[in-house]
Amino acid sequence: MVTLFFEDRPISVPEGTTVAAALLLSGVAAFRTSPVTAAPRAPYCMMGVCFECLVEVDGVPARQACLTPVKAGMKVRRQSGARGLCAINDGGRDAS
Ligand code: FES
Repeated sequence: MVTLFFEDRPISVPEGTTVAAALLLSGVAAFRTSPVTAAPRAPYCMMGVCFECLVEVDGVPARQACLTPVKAGMKVRRQSGARGLCAINDGGRDAS
């Protein structure tokens, strides 16, 4: 088992699980909010196509949860709205 943190809450899941599977197993229904209407969004395809599963992982925004394997101590946060390209390119240090 591996323990990661979602919104500072510890979650224990089997090693080798993706972040998306870990959050769904833990009852998390909304991974992000849409940039335009702030509607809650959740994984749809689970294979890297739809981009509905974007979360912040260890301070880096816009990570696809369905393609990211869990690591011990990983800190995952819900993503609210859009992230600027600068935030992605500089490792999460959003200048906006
Ligand atoms: S669930 Fe579709 S890209 Fe992650």
